[in-house]
Amino acid sequence: MTHADRQRSYLGALEFAESQVAALTEQHPDFFPIYTVDGRWHHEGELWTDWTGGFLAGMMWQFHLRNGDATWRARAEHYSKLLEHRQHDRAVHDLGFIFLSTYKPWFDVTGDSHLHDVLVQAGRTLALRFQEKGQYLRSFVAPESLFIDIMMNVPIIFYAALETDDDALMQIANAHCRTTRDCIVRSDGSTAHEGIFDLETGAFVQQTTHQGLAGDSRWARGLAWSLYGYSKVFALTGQQEFLAVAQRNADFWVANLPADHVPYWDFDADLALPAPWGAQKDSSAGAIAASGLLDLSRQVDSADLAATYRQTALAMLDALVTPEYLARETPGWEGILKHGVYHTKKQLGVDESVMWGEFFFVEALSKVVAE
Ligand code: GLY
Repeated sequence: MTHADRQRSYLGALEFAESQVAALTEQHPDFFPIYTVDGRWHHEGELWTDWTGGFLAGMMWQFHLRNGDATWRARAEHYSKLLEHRQHDRAVHDLGFIFLSTYKPWFDVTGDSHLHDVLVQAGRTLALRFQEKGQYLRSFVAPESLFIDIMMNVPIIFYAALETDDDALMQIANAHCRTTRDCIVRSDGSTAHEGIFDLETGAFVQQTTHQGLAGDSRWARGLAWSLYGYSKVFALTGQQEFLAVAQRNADFWVANLPADHVPYWDFDADLALPAPWGAQKDSSAGAIAASGLLDLSRQVDSADLAATYRQTALAMLDALVTPEYLARETPGWEGILKHGVYHTKKQLGVDESVMWGEFFFVEALSKVVAE
């Protein structure tokens, strides 16, 4: 594909994304869905945990930042404000997802100190999840549990630490990244979803999972969170030890992607079995990894690696903008990207649109069209 063809194709996908998000806000004002059921956002299915509000508002910021549209700006501010109280939310480990996608771009365009204060407070609140014994931020499910997803949220603690010159916060964030690396990132660059610790001693006990196939399997989205999370931490801190982890994750990703460049939900899924446990794609993992690889391609020293990461990201996005994944030619489908997965075991949002898939797809496409 030529550069001009790709830009045209990605811009078309972004315009479709705008129309889908506009329709959602018109049909269901102030509603923050997590996943679709049969392609529709409004349903009675459970949330499991309430972690995705920042992605809907974050897409509005992305649209505004790309085209300067005042309607998107007004919607972005309105939906972001609806999330402000979450800066004190101690029930989730997702405050980075919620605030870095919303209050961070808002603060960047206005410099308003109130927005800065919300970001710093969110970082401080997340840091309250730190377990001294074990040296990690606990997941929402239990004190003994660490999730790989938290790597995408710990950047808000680094942000708060850097903005306020707070050494204690910095130590918490660094410790969490090192514990995650040492306990649930494997030497081949793959990751486990969850690590379990002994609460008495703080010793690491075992790798387990909620959303992957097994404790020792390679859940695709978890790997994408790790790759992108460590890349973000490197961007904030310049610490090479974390760039090395992102690179290890990326190398596993690149070496194990299927031929059509869109990952199955777990790299260990038995592809001879049908979906959902077998040959089920997770387009959201592809969108996250594509956005992360675009950043990582600018961070690594090696020109060869940079080219590999960038080509892989573009190959994934080229696949995701085809009608197999982009819902533009699927009548009645309310999401943007089909074939995402939320929680296979609970049968929530399997082979559906998922709000983080939408956000990272829009983010990755926006990065490319801005070049
Ligand atoms: N809870 C994060 C995820 O589903 O990836």
